[in-house]
Amino acid sequence: MKILGIETSCDETAAAVVENGRNVLSNAIYSQIAKHRPYGGVVPEIASRNHVAMLPGIIDEALEAAGETYESIDAFAVTYGPGLASSLLIGFSAAKTLAQRLGKPLIRVNHHEGHLHSIFMKDDAPAPETVFPMLGLLVSGGDTSLVMMHETGRYELLGSTIDDAAGEALDKAAAVLNLGYPGGPIIQKTAEGGNPAAIRFPRGLDQPDRGKWIYKYDRNLCFSFSGLKTSLLTHVKKLDHVPEGDELRDICASYQEAVCDALTIRVERGLKKLPVKSFACAGGVSMNKILREKLEILSETSGIPLLLCPPAYCTDNAAMIAGVAYEKVRLGLAGAEPGDVNPNLKLADWE
Ligand code: KG4
Repeated sequence: MKILGIETSCDETAAAVVENGRNVLSNAIYSQIAKHRPYGGVVPEIASRNHVAMLPGIIDEALEAAGETYESIDAFAVTYGPGLASSLLIGFSAAKTLAQRLGKPLIRVNHHEGHLHSIFMKDDAPAPETVFPMLGLLVSGGDTSLVMMHETGRYELLGSTIDDAAGEALDKAAAVLNLGYPGGPIIQKTAEGGNPAAIRFPRGLDQPDRGKWIYKYDRNLCFSFSGLKTSLLTHVKKLDHVPEGDELRDICASYQEAVCDALTIRVERGLKKLPVKSFACAGGVSMNKILREKLEILSETSGIPLLLCPPAYCTDNAAMIAGVAYEKVRLGLAGAEPGDVNPNLKLADWE
């Protein structure tokens, strides 16, 4: 079964053709990073205008690279949330129109489920049913969550960030240090050769007795990056010069260490608490070398297998959307109604 996936939830305009869930025949992506860089983050209006301009060409590119035509595609899959409302609408309208015009099914996919599923987007990945229940760490640009994946389509949110996402914390740190956008890869590069123990930045929610806990999730499995961000800002303000060279490398290495530690500590707690067969990490921040190393060490010490997202599918892409859609069809979980977009969609909302 060949599925054309479309993804426009944020600032990547993407289309991909995937055969039987794993065989990625094409994966076309237009990254709008350069358009948003001058503003230090994604500007929704600019994102949606670029989706309108670029999506038709990206769909053509995906079909051509796969050697397919509109007629040879069996179904269309599209991200319907969460994400920027005006951006989601562009991809959703395109996919709905194509499906109706060609008389093919339209399968709606949760963007976060797409990220989590991306760990299966490689030839030698195990079948999902053999590794569930799985603990999933989702670290995309807009979200940081710990998810219990009972089976495909049945997810339980265990913990989430109470303020910024890990990716946002890295993006904002790079802005504070005048390093550019997006911050994750720049911080990683600048941190090379730096001392990760030079500055002890906070790991978030370290003080259990501070404040009244009002969130519905277990505090020990939640994340907070706002204190870390403030701590960096305070550190930089106290310096009477702009950090560069070894000093800048140390700041970046220490900040990156704090972000990765904060994530790994919660995964470790989750693994101790829950009867999982495996654990996984996906989303843009899962590209990070230090995070991958820390999780691999955790897998060795705990004896629990780790599935990491292949680098090609860590950041937003449409192959993961087509991949989930295939699983939904295979398991009889694909809904019949096209419905609408849902910018605030939660993982547990999947019907
Ligand atoms: O998953 P993604 O494309 O966005 C959403 O779906 O929201 O992730 C983008 C995020 C950005 O915050 C970016 O800074 C971060 O992923 N990122 C990284 C790395 N590459 C991208 N963070 C840390 N290390 C990296 N190498």
